[in-house]
This record gives sequence, C-alpha cells and structure tokens, in this order.
Amino acid sequence: MKNPNVPSRTLLEPVETCTRDELRHIQLERLRWSVNHAYKNVPFYRESFDKAGVHPSQINSLEDLGKFPFTYKNDLRDNYPYGMFAVPMSDIVRIHASSGTTGRPTVVGYTKNDIDTWADAVARSIRAAGGSANDIVHVAYGYGLFTGGLGAHYGAERLGASVIPMSGGQTEKQVQIISDFKPTVIMVTPSYMLNIADEFERQGLDPRDTSLRVGIFGAEPWTDAMRQEIEERVGIDAVDIYGLSEVMGPGVAQECVETKDGPTIWEDLFYPEIIDPETGELLPDGEEGELVFTSLTKEALPIIRYRTRDLTRLMPGTARTMRRMGRITGRSDDMLIIRGVNVFPSQIEERICNQGQLAPHYQIEVWREGHMDKMAVYVEPRQDLGEVGDEEKVSLAKDLQHHIKSYIGISTDVKVLNSGEVERSEGKARRVIDKRPK
Ligand code: DLL
Repeated sequence: MKNPNVPSRTLLEPVETCTRDELRHIQLERLRWSVNHAYKNVPFYRESFDKAGVHPSQINSLEDLGKFPFTYKNDLRDNYPYGMFAVPMSDIVRIHASSGTTGRPTVVGYTKNDIDTWADAVARSIRAAGGSANDIVHVAYGYGLFTGGLGAHYGAERLGASVIPMSGGQTEKQVQIISDFKPTVIMVTPSYMLNIADEFERQGLDPRDTSLRVGIFGAEPWTDAMRQEIEERVGIDAVDIYGLSEVMGPGVAQECVETKDGPTIWEDLFYPEIIDPETGELLPDGEEGELVFTSLTKEALPIIRYRTRDLTRLMPGTARTMRRMGRITGRSDDMLIIRGVNVFPSQIEERICNQGQLAPHYQIEVWREGHMDKMAVYVEPRQDLGEVGDEEKVSLAKDLQHHIKSYIGISTDVKVLNSGEVERSEGKARRVIDKRPK
C-alpha cells in the first residue's frame, strides 16, 4: 500500500508557476551561493575570476553575472579528470563523462544532493512531457558514462513510473520489448527512434499500433519537420528534451506537451544567457546566439557561464513561468562553411523531410578538391516505397539538390542510396563526416 506521507509528484512544483519576480529572487540567492562556492573551492575559478578582476561579492543582481569570465569545454579538459570538482572525492557518488570528437573526455561528478536534484529535474521534465506515475517508461538512451540512460532512469523512477532500462542498441530486441512490455513513454534519440520504427516495419509490424503515447527525444539536434515525421509514423506526441553533461545531463530543459513550443529551461536550477558567439556580448531575449549556462545549485561541479556552443534564442514562458529556448539550430562548432556559405545539418534535414519520398536518414560528407570545398548528401528513399529504380533515384537526387540550392544556396552532390544503406545510429547520429584538412 502507498505510504500517504510520501509526497505525490503528480502536481506541478510551486516554482514552475511562481511569478517572474519570485523566480528572479530565487535565482539571485542561488547564483550568489553558486559563484561563491566555485570561487572558494575550485582553483580554476579562483584564478579565472582573479584574473578578470571580479569577485563573488560583486553579484548584487542577476545582470552582474555578465562581468564574470566564461568557462569552456577545454577548461574541463585541462583539469582532467577531477580538477573542476568543488567537493572532496568522498562526497562524489557518481561520475559521468562525455566523449568529444577529439581528445580527452569531459568528466563530470555529482554529490548525493546533485543526483537528487537531477532526478527531480528529469521527473519534472517527464511530467511536462505528459508522463505520470502511471506510465511505463522505456529508456533507450545509452546507459554508461553517457548521462542519457541513467539520467532518464532516475527521473522516471523519481516520478514513480515503471522504468524499463533497455539502453541503446539491439534494435530487434527494442521492438520485442516495446511490443511485449507495453511501455507508454519512450526516451531515446530521435534518430534512433526512426531506426526502431524501421525495424517494426521490417518485421511487418505497424509502429502506430504500439502502446507508446509520448516520445521524449533529445541529445542531438532535430527539427520540427522531424517531429512531424515521427509523430505520424509512430502515432505519438514527440517532445524535445535538452541537456548537456557539463551542466547536468538530460533535463536542463523540457518541452511541455500541451504547447510544443520549445523546451522550458528549468531556470530555478540553471541560469541561461544568450551571447554573440564571436564577441561574447550579451544579447537580449529573442535574439539568436550561443547558449551559456550557470548552475545555481550544483555542489560537485559548479559551472559558471559555460559556453555550450549550442545556437538558439530565449523566449518568454508559456506553459510555465520559466523562459523557453528555441530549437537548437546548430552548434557554433558544427556549422559548416562551404565556399563561404554557412550551412547547418538541420537545414539539410528540413529539406529532406519536406521531400515526401525520402527517408529522414541522412549523412553529409565534406571534403576539399584543390581549394574548393565539396559537399555530398547521402539519403535513402522511404522504406515503404519498396524497390526504387536507378532512374527514379537520380530524379529524387536532382530534386533534393535543387531544393538545397534554392533554399540554402549551395551546390551539393546528392546520392540516393538503397534503403538501409545510410549509416544508422543507436544513440547520437553522426550527421557530418568532414574530411577537409584541419
Ligand atoms: O546529450 C544529454 C542528454 C541526454 C540530453 C539525453 C537529452 C537527452 P552530452 O552528451 O554532453 O549530453 O551532449 C550535449 O548534445 O550541447 C547539444 O549540442 C546536444 N543536445 C542535447 N539535447 C539536445 C536537443 C546529452 N534536445 C549536447 N536538441 C548539447 C539539440 C541537443 N541538441
């Protein structure tokens, strides 16, 4: 029997609907604590603040944070593995790491309280996505050093849902488990969701017939065109979850299912800023730039003005008091510059999704010929079209080439491969292979 003294998590937390003033008050108090905690306990922050001539005692308003220096991924790498921790190892109860494309992984740590806060934030996120204690949550984010699996897991458990800790991979088994265990919520990367949907179809099953009701998708960029594709093919509500290891993991921001208008940033825990990625200058809400985060409550790894490299904008709250972020349009470091034109993989994705006969699996290859950048896009026809002849493939390729040229302004080589030939992901999709000399 349920113990009546344990709080129910079906209701929103008061902070989700407090006034902006109340929220700012909480933020300022926590910001002071966090900046001071970093300064006192992490030599890196002490040096970096001293060098910039700033001190935690100068924070009298949220705007004062703008005087403080940024923190970069490289700062975490330079202090590998534990140099950024603000508590002794005896207080650390969990370690995760995110592997970058090059070099050492970025190591992050959590105290018992941090794990609790994280579980609460993810529980809040699943609830915003339309989940409750009555749901069965299938977690197909990878378990391990990646924060996706365990982050989602603890949150779902905290909400009181029944968790299936499936992890990524074993696509045939994913289909079996979804068919037999009847989850109602799935948490997975959007690219792997499509891969699973393909596997359903390969087995002669209709992915619309599953028990799934809601998909909580993130860990990689995806577009509204992709949302529509997934919602139609799988017959679910598809909502966006955002997060990064350095700031915590999944659950930094979550889109509310009733509005589907961009993830609400859990601003009582993570303070967002948008800056011009070139000059570092603070930009007003609504303007697109690089997202920067400061943790407000984290003990093990306080992070002050962390440059996420993610490009987006801040928008006023709708379903909650907290501000929302737009979709991540790209990362300032995965923006491709092809013969002078800035190209984001998400722009290519939109064009592909808009062309009804193409499947949303794609990969972009970039290389150099002489002094010229060249770009190829590999795609496939939709699985349900059956066998597609060479002539038709050429014609599909020409259409996409034309759309990319007219919408984005660059010439590409488009190759329509056979169904199943584009590399599949079991986690984050690898969208770009850049072979240009560094
Ligand atoms: O990807 C945490 C996570 C796990 C988020 C599961 C959501 C779901 P990292 O491996 O450190 O952490 O990668 C963080 O992934 O800076 C973004 O570039 C990208 N990313 C994460 N969520 C989204 C999203 C996890 N919803 C990096 N949309 C971030 C676009 C996303 N990009």
